[in-house]
Amino acid sequence: MDNIDFDHRPRRSCLYTPGINHKAMEKGKSLAADIIMLDLEDAVAPELKDEARNLVANIVSEKPYGKREIIIRMNEVSSPWAKDDLTMINAVKPDGALVPKVQTAQDIFDIDARLDDGIALWVMIEMPLAILNIQDIAAASQSTKLAGFIIGTNDLAKEYRATATPDRAAFQHALSVTLIAARAYNLIAIDGVYNDIQNASGLEDECRQGQIMGYDGKTLIHPNQIDITNRIFSPAIDDIEKARAIVAAFELPENRNKGVIKVDGKMTELLHLVEAKRLIAMHDAINASGDA
Ligand code: COA
Ligand code: MG
Repeated sequence: MDNIDFDHRPRRSCLYTPGINHKAMEKGKSLAADIIMLDLEDAVAPELKDEARNLVANIVSEKPYGKREIIIRMNEVSSPWAKDDLTMINAVKPDGALVPKVQTAQDIFDIDARLDDGIALWVMIEMPLAILNIQDIAAASQSTKLAGFIIGTNDLAKEYRATATPDRAAFQHALSVTLIAARAYNLIAIDGVYNDIQNASGLEDECRQGQIMGYDGKTLIHPNQIDITNRIFSPAIDDIEKARAIVAAFELPENRNKGVIKVDGKMTELLHLVEAKRLIAMHDAINASGDA
């Protein structure tokens, strides 16, 4: 990971790769995903956990992923593998550690104490209790390394006994409160996976749902999902042009001390200026990452 400002790093496409699949982990070195998430949890069978941990340790310690952010997903804290996973993570120092199935703020404090400084803490929001405790969990970021939420819609579906539908009706509450809690406490928020690998238009629709809600990006399971996701979660050219017009308008001498002006026929306030500058910063960061 290079030194783009943490808040303005593009995190549009976050590709899970099974920590047992050496070939896929190699492939990640040349893919256009913003984040590569090497998984030791759901994608690795119990009898292969130790082998996967060793494979991930070797590949991450070589630091071969360039500008891509590297996150390692460990096993559940209560599992027999968690201790060794954490030892390995602290040794190889990925950009982030992702912890599944957290449920309370205390879970955040406990894991944070065992994670070395300099490694960002990310957590899966995929348990009903996490949804009920979401504000307290987000607030734990004030005294910990907690940096972001990743929604786990597959686990939520199982826990809720919900049916997955294209409009994701069953998950609207979870998606909504998770995003709001993330924004209230300045955390990154990443949407869940889309399981139907061959269905590009279904993926595009679901990316748009998340992007409209305010999500920073989407977790992915296959390389062919990266381009669509990068496109939908990049600021649109139209929006960048509007943002530049807003910045330019507020810079005019006659507008210097104004809180509200008219830009292109629309009421435009200082809050729009803040959002315009954020969009431009994200656009610049995407250009700097070489994949606009
Ligand atoms: N990350 C990196 N590379 C991947 C990948 C992934 N998640 N999924 C597939 N690839 C690679 C394959 O290795 C293959 O590489 P090659 O062209 O060099 O041979 C290429 O992309 C095409 O793969 P394909 O044959 O279409 O898929 P597959 O049958 O090998 O794998 C899955 C299908 C679903 C098993 C696989 O995509 C996968 O494991 N996804 C992630 C699952 C996961 O991590 N789940 C946990 C979180 S929900
Ligand atoms: Mg899960």
